[in-house]
Amino acid sequence: MTSSTNPDIACVILGAGLGSRMRTDKPKVLHLVAHEPMIAHVCRACASLPVVRKVVVTGPEMGRPPMALDGWTCVVQQDRLGTADAVKTAREALAGFTGPVVVLFGDTPLISPQTIRALVEALQGPGDPALAVLGMEPAEPGQYGRLVRDAGGSLAAIVEFADADEAQRKITLCNAGLMAFDGARLFKLLDAIGSDNAQGEFYLTDAVHIARAQGWPVAVAIAPEAEVMGINSRSDLARAEAAMQKRLRCAALEAGVTLADPATAWLSADTVFGRDVEIGPNVEICPGTVIGDGVTIRAFSHIEGAHIGDGAIIGPFARLRPGADLGRAVHIGNFVEVKNVTMGDGAKANHLSYLGDASIGPKTNVGAGTITCNYDGSRKHITTIGADVSIGSNTAFVAPVTIGDEALIAAGSVITEDVAPGALALSRAPQSQKPGTGKKIKQRNAEAKAAELKAGKD
Ligand code: UD1
Ligand code: MG
Repeated sequence: MTSSTNPDIACVILGAGLGSRMRTDKPKVLHLVAHEPMIAHVCRACASLPVVRKVVVTGPEMGRPPMALDGWTCVVQQDRLGTADAVKTAREALAGFTGPVVVLFGDTPLISPQTIRALVEALQGPGDPALAVLGMEPAEPGQYGRLVRDAGGSLAAIVEFADADEAQRKITLCNAGLMAFDGARLFKLLDAIGSDNAQGEFYLTDAVHIARAQGWPVAVAIAPEAEVMGINSRSDLARAEAAMQKRLRCAALEAGVTLADPATAWLSADTVFGRDVEIGPNVEICPGTVIGDGVTIRAFSHIEGAHIGDGAIIGPFARLRPGADLGRAVHIGNFVEVKNVTMGDGAKANHLSYLGDASIGPKTNVGAGTITCNYDGSRKHITTIGADVSIGSNTAFVAPVTIGDEALIAAGSVITEDVAPGALALSRAPQSQKPGTGKKIKQRNAEAKAAELKAGKD
């Protein structure tokens, strides 16, 4: 234990549910909110707490969730027998742990670390509670489980909506889903839970009345509804996305980022922003992005997995894909796509280019219409371009190919061989000219068209 108020905890995130109300073939908790599986947001909320055991419960067909789950143990719930059964699958991973065990749901991605902490504090409250339940007062209680109090006002039971009678359905205090258990008593409670209810499932919520029957107190903490809305349908997913984007935009503004039109900035939770970053309207920033100081990202740009150096100018209409590693004051202009490319300080690609699997030296200028032909139909190849190279418009680099420093590539060239430093490379058919022939051909064509029109009328 680190201290009595801030103890080491274990976190178990339940994510094996099928998401039948979403009408989906994909496991519910892998649906994306702000570009990441919703369960990844729950992991992130736990990350700032002193968590010493981290367990994710998944379904048999899910495999390991495709996300940064460093230090998380994945256990598989073979049959979906309910939330209590799901926690039981973590038995081995929690063996010997007697501190607070927080059970979270993978379908509540808006949960904050503060609320998890408040729940743990409630568990440490007076009377040595066996568990603490997170409650909420939603505007529309809908099908949430209801918190039923006894005559003394203490929590007596949680009744699932499907099992509730008329009077219980009128209760507005609902179960948010998260619970914290005293690790020493957790499995005694779980092993006593049965499945005699409307859905024939082992409900985690039954731990409440079982604890009370043992004479163990149950604590309640209250959460803001916005944080604990459970995602059970596509409409819920859309609402969570809107709420998460609002939160990310507020955090970016707080951190000193200028958002020209916050409502159209589409952000990710892991973006690292430098100082004085300016983002134009309709910009989407996906995971894995690091943005340096004084960077400007203009309207309609799409950024994913890119590192953008200080003072760079990106867009409008730019696409940076994973592995775009841009130095200081790099300029990427309209309709330029950059993937797996290192660009040195001051390099520029201002118009209409595809740059993939390449390194481009400092101060090199990439002309409009330049393409790195990186794919031979089977394998990818690298284009290596030195410093201070001038690349004429409409150049195709057929990789693998290397261009030396200060070379000049003539416009329209198809470069298939290495170019020495300082050389001029020119690869295009020589221009020829036949005086007067152009005018003659145009006249002949016009006469042919007129004859066709006349024949059509006759
Ligand atoms: C649950 C609560 C309900 C609460 C609501 C809050 C229970 C029995 N009910 O209902 O009181 O008001 O959350 O959002 O706990 N899961 C598994 N294995 C299973 C079943 C579920 O891992 O066998 C996971 C799901 O992936 C999900 C979480 O547990 O992340 C909750 O399951 P869900 O089916 O969404 O429960 P609700 O009906 O929303
Ligand atoms: Mg749910």
